[in-house]
Amino acid sequence: MEHAEDAMQGNPGVLRHYRDLLPITGDTPRISLGEGNTPLVHSRHIGKSVGCDELYFKLEGCNPTGSFKDRGMVVAVAKAMEAKSSTIVCASTGNTSASAAAYGAYCGLNTVVLVPKGNVASGKLAQAVAYGAKILMVNGNFDQALNLVRELSNSYPITLVNSVNPHRIQGQKTAAFEVSDALGDAPDFLFIPVGNAGNITAYWLGFCEYFAMEKVSRRPRMMGFQAEGAAPIVKGHPIENPQTVATAIRIGNPASWRSAVKARDESGGRIDAVTDDEILAAYKLLASKEGIFGEPASAASVAGLLKSVQAGLDMKGKRAVCVITGNGLKDPELAAKHANSHPVEIEANLASVEKALELGTMRR
Ligand code: F0G
Repeated sequence: MEHAEDAMQGNPGVLRHYRDLLPITGDTPRISLGEGNTPLVHSRHIGKSVGCDELYFKLEGCNPTGSFKDRGMVVAVAKAMEAKSSTIVCASTGNTSASAAAYGAYCGLNTVVLVPKGNVASGKLAQAVAYGAKILMVNGNFDQALNLVRELSNSYPITLVNSVNPHRIQGQKTAAFEVSDALGDAPDFLFIPVGNAGNITAYWLGFCEYFAMEKVSRRPRMMGFQAEGAAPIVKGHPIENPQTVATAIRIGNPASWRSAVKARDESGGRIDAVTDDEILAAYKLLASKEGIFGEPASAASVAGLLKSVQAGLDMKGKRAVCVITGNGLKDPELAAKHANSHPVEIEANLASVEKALELGTMRR
């Protein structure tokens, strides 16, 4: 498969790039859809507005299926193939199902996804449909769907590829390596949305491993943010009926709850809640002032930064990274509803253009 590596032109994918830092063997197929190696973009507006010269956005929406899930999925699917599994299953608020369906299709596996009916962004569902997964719409929420797939994979030879599968966390930790490599050290703060809590767990694992290997001189404070109506870790108990506009993190009983709390406490960080209004304000700000179209759940990291600074967190002289976990294109209906701009229909002549732009006397 060397020709495939050549074709990847500088992005060998997570399995090849981090082969020494992942639990893979000579028998693990080195599959890749070109995941990882995502941009770390310097903020031009939000950083200044919070007194932080070095604020960066990690654009995980640039992964092959438009979210960070691909980093972990490529490892989980490669290990499933190594174990000669023919079927993978997951519960999902949308992104995990899109990623599982893509890697399943790429590798010729059957993919089954369980999603909460009515609460998955249309672009994510369109992905699972296009990749040809078997899609089960559950009359219930994500937490119930996750219980179902756990039972299913216990009773049948079907590989569970939710982040309770440790290979997912292993793959996702590579984002912490990339952030550290790009900055030359770990940042002071990492702001990240929290749903099922796998990603905050994975970043913390990655930073701790790099620290132990002396590739970084410090570990960041982990700043996790749940949506106010779906904030079990903040409230200290499961939420029976979680609600938020950020459907990706509409989760009431996170599988990686304990490891998220561990990451928070070991790092001296925080897990806090942001309201839907704060999430939407950050979502609009990111797009209109930074040119970054993340999905609402992703904007929870930025909303969390803004809230923390308002509450007195001093960012002067600090380096911070906000993880933008998924692509805004996945939820076009929500984007239209909370628009920064509205299309104007015109006739195909210059006069109509001039009128619409209110050019008046500006003509040369
Ligand atoms: N951001 C996005 C865009 C997500 O899709 C998710 C989780 C998160 C943040 C939270 O990450 O669960 O590791 O704490 N989405 C899962 C899914 C639940 O099914 O796609 P987490």
